[in-house]
Amino acid sequence: MKRTTILFLSILLGIISLTGCPGSRSVRERADKRNLTYGMSVQAGDVLDPDTISILEDNFNLLVPENTMKWVNIRPTKGFWNWSDMDNMVAFAQKRKMRMKGHTFVWHQQNPPYVYSLKTREEAIALLTDQITSVMTRYKGKIYEYDVCNEVLNEDGTMRDTIWYKTIGPDYLDIAFRTARAADPDARLILNDYSNEYAGTPKADGFYALAKDLKDRGVPIDGVGLQMHLMAQDPVSEEALLENVRRFGDLGLFVSFTEIDVRVANPLTAEKEAEQIDAYSKLMEIALGEKNAGSFIMWGFSDKRSWIPRAFPGFGFAHLYDQNDKPKPVYFRLKDIISGKKAK
Ligand code: XIL
Repeated sequence: MKRTTILFLSILLGIISLTGCPGSRSVRERADKRNLTYGMSVQAGDVLDPDTISILEDNFNLLVPENTMKWVNIRPTKGFWNWSDMDNMVAFAQKRKMRMKGHTFVWHQQNPPYVYSLKTREEAIALLTDQITSVMTRYKGKIYEYDVCNEVLNEDGTMRDTIWYKTIGPDYLDIAFRTARAADPDARLILNDYSNEYAGTPKADGFYALAKDLKDRGVPIDGVGLQMHLMAQDPVSEEALLENVRRFGDLGLFVSFTEIDVRVANPLTAEKEAEQIDAYSKLMEIALGEKNAGSFIMWGFSDKRSWIPRAFPGFGFAHLYDQNDKPKPVYFRLKDIISGKKAK
């Protein structure tokens, strides 16, 4: 071999050993490279468990607390803030240069009794603004985006009659978003909901109208969340989803897929698994392909610890990892797509 060839090969080997060859890149590195926010919801204990930690480190660049930041957990009584679990998660994410997302302030579920017993507009505004300001001030610059308001609509696209609606009135959304913007002007603020993915359905159209109204009136909203709790048996309607994503883009809003899971009716069959893989793949292609999208966040990573069988009896197998926390075919399919291989 010529001396120059040997020199070239040794330089190449040196570069490969320093940077890792492309094939050995972790999914997280591949996602970073594609500018994809690839996220996962976590429970407080997940960031303390060595096996889970390595799954999180190797795969995701954003974490969202599945329950830890919800009102009942972070402030179980009015005078007691339970910061420690959230502090741990935020520190965990920071140490690994992962983004952290906050979920959620305004919601009709998982609130403590003192929230449900609010009576007057004044006391409700005082408590809501205190909650938002306290959390966002503590994590200023450390939490990248928040689901400020969650699930505010009924299935027909009208406003849900929640404690916030009853006590404050419809402008609770304005108050929540304005308070959030003031508390941390750099955080991205999201309006989040489910069954809002397909343009032309009553809830999605109501959700669009609400987001547009907020935006038109100058309420500080940056993006919308489509939760995407889907069923494998319902094929993803790409056309209606794209139409929806793009109409938010026209308003200057980004679209995040915020709580993806694709549940399968028991028992699992090869055919149903193929449908599920197809659904996940289509969402990923759209997340990567649309200029105002780019966030693919999943709601739980393994079938072993899933919220699905409790919430939807008769369903399961909704996530990327199985009952033994081992990656399933859908995991590898998404990895391929993130790596730039087209879906079959
Ligand atoms: C779910 C959690 O996953 C469960 O562990 C908990 O028991 C109930 O809430 N929409 C949301 C999430 O915005 O906060 C919900 O999370 C799932 C539906």
